[in-house]
Amino acid sequence: MLVSGEGTNLQALVDAGLPIAAVASNRRDARALARVSVPTASFELGDYDGREARDAAMADWLRHHGVDLVVLAGYMHLLTKPFLDGFPEAVVNVHPSLLPSFPGAHAVEEQLAAGVTESGATVHLVDSGVDSGPILAQERVPVLAGDTAETLHERIKVVEHELLPKVVRELCAR
Ligand code: GRF
Repeated sequence: MLVSGEGTNLQALVDAGLPIAAVASNRRDARALARVSVPTASFELGDYDGREARDAAMADWLRHHGVDLVVLAGYMHLLTKPFLDGFPEAVVNVHPSLLPSFPGAHAVEEQLAAGVTESGATVHLVDSGVDSGPILAQERVPVLAGDTAETLHERIKVVEHELLPKVVRELCAR
């Protein structure tokens, strides 16, 4: 797993009993790291000679821990070629919108600003673009009158916490 923040999706995979080998983060203060007893490590950009060097080190560390499927759950950096080449067709992300609509880091706020009546959660394969890889699964989530970014994001996360473990379980079985 790769995380940057809260780690509720990581928790959903733990609770689903999925075999998590290791958890890495781009932030050493990510609260998600405290949720697991498997090996964890942080790879802060400032500690490396650029993004590609950081990503290569992170990929090596994950491989060393036996990882063969990488799950991004709130991981907030783009992954560069040295990382993606190390895990071909084996990096997945969960995103709080019905992609390809509303990619990027502010998807929930942008959906509210656009006045959409329907949002959702998407699990997709990761490529070098912003939330642009092939879609594996999607589920719709209604936007309700009076929703704030917080209330809508919470409703989306409830769906993410079902959808992500389901897709990861299927990928582990292939
Ligand atoms: C999720 O909404 C996910 O879709 C997005 O970042 C959020 C991460 O939440 N990419 P958490 O850290 O799993 O609680």
